[in-house]
Amino acid sequence: MSGKFSRRQFARLAGLAALGMAATPANSANTKQNRAADRRAPAGFPKDFVWGTATSAYQIEGAVNEDGRGRSIWDTFAHTPGKIGDSSTADRANEHYYRYKEDVRLIRDLGVRHYRFSVAWPRIFPDGTGAPNPKGLDFYNRLIDELLANGIEPYATLYHWDLPQALQDRVGGWQSSDTSKAFADYAGYVAGRLTDRVKTVFTLNEAGRFVNFGYGWGIDAPGLKLPTAELNQARHHVALGHGLAVQAIRSQARAGTRVGPAENIAACVPAFDTPENVRAAEMATRELNAGLLGVMLEGKYTDGFLEYSGKDAPKFTADELKIIGSKNDFVGLNIYAPQFYIAASDKAPGWSVLPFPGSFPHMNSEWLRIGPETIYWAPRLAAKVWNIETIYISENGTSSEDKVHADGKVYDLDRIMFLRNYLRQLHRAVAEGVPVRGYFLWSLMDNFEWIFGYEKRFGLYHVDFDTQRRTPKLSAAFYRDVVARNAIGV
Ligand code: NOJ
Repeated sequence: MSGKFSRRQFARLAGLAALGMAATPANSANTKQNRAADRRAPAGFPKDFVWGTATSAYQIEGAVNEDGRGRSIWDTFAHTPGKIGDSSTADRANEHYYRYKEDVRLIRDLGVRHYRFSVAWPRIFPDGTGAPNPKGLDFYNRLIDELLANGIEPYATLYHWDLPQALQDRVGGWQSSDTSKAFADYAGYVAGRLTDRVKTVFTLNEAGRFVNFGYGWGIDAPGLKLPTAELNQARHHVALGHGLAVQAIRSQARAGTRVGPAENIAACVPAFDTPENVRAAEMATRELNAGLLGVMLEGKYTDGFLEYSGKDAPKFTADELKIIGSKNDFVGLNIYAPQFYIAASDKAPGWSVLPFPGSFPHMNSEWLRIGPETIYWAPRLAAKVWNIETIYISENGTSSEDKVHADGKVYDLDRIMFLRNYLRQLHRAVAEGVPVRGYFLWSLMDNFEWIFGYEKRFGLYHVDFDTQRRTPKLSAAFYRDVVARNAIGV
């Protein structure tokens, strides 16, 4: 500290600053500084902008043997020694199955009026197909009623990775188009029963992640490392499952139900903003997403994708492509880290992917590189490439090394830094007319973070997994303020 202030003066200044009063002369209405402040409007969002939070069934529900729930591939995977970093499982997780009323109050206390949760397929069809389990559906009826009673609109995701184990055992899961059909039957069944109250349905969550990590690299359930041709075929079945589900939902849901995917788009960012680099990033967005989001939105694989895949390209029929390309009402994008920085290139295909320097900054999860501009560029480029009219940021957030301090508080300033910067860029997108209509912060509360178990915390609420005590972090107050003012900044 500089020697300019005495200890007493400093303490006084610090105290005033804490009250938001320091450096404001008592009678300063007409000072230059204040006139500048008048011009500094907060970044407001449109008045119908959707602010929400998100969770998924396997990550929070627990109660894995309750009310006739079947086993999922994640139960099997988590119980396989060596698969989960902290050797945990989600058998208990957040006990949300029993504590859902308390958890709905947590959402309400944030002032958030939109909540994205997922339905566990093995609760509804314990064997993947066949006879439905009414007790499984009852849980979601109770949850939805509780949400609505608290003024919170439910958004349901139908597949957040918890495939019934029976389907994996019988047909090899997504390696077979039988799973695509079974998914559509389940989706239609659920939509027929919940869409009297749920108006927005997401089909698959992060298809790109669960195909590559689960069937290609063996990192996620079911832990397979398929050769490329089989992996591409599994990806095709996943895309087909999406298209069949869209059709089944349309035929069995109440009129007016809106449906779309929630995809972890391969997020491209121009290396720096020049028209050439932006054009290059558009081309890259189309090609690097051709195997899933692209085929869902165009109803065809790009020539580039087929050429690149060569003899490993998926086998498909024209009819399947038509189904996959069924019209969506919106596209959900899960946005975390910039995946590809793109530069224009003189060589074909006209763009190149730049390597990341080792010093590129990241958050508490090593994969979560910090790139606030991603939430600006990914929706902007997607909207341009596929002419999308409605986009939701279906997930965004970060893990942080959250600790409850002696005063009972969690000061997650790094999460606030992350959110503040991403939300500024989101505002930039919305202000420029990129059609983003809503934002779901991942996650409402700390939960089972897949292969990292409980070691990575993404919540606005801290969860003590021994006592199940939920404690709002400082970021909960930050987000409550953003939602209340429908704006970022002052
Ligand atoms: C995306 C996934 O959908 C979600 O389940 C996961 O917890 C977050 N990313 C954070 O890794």
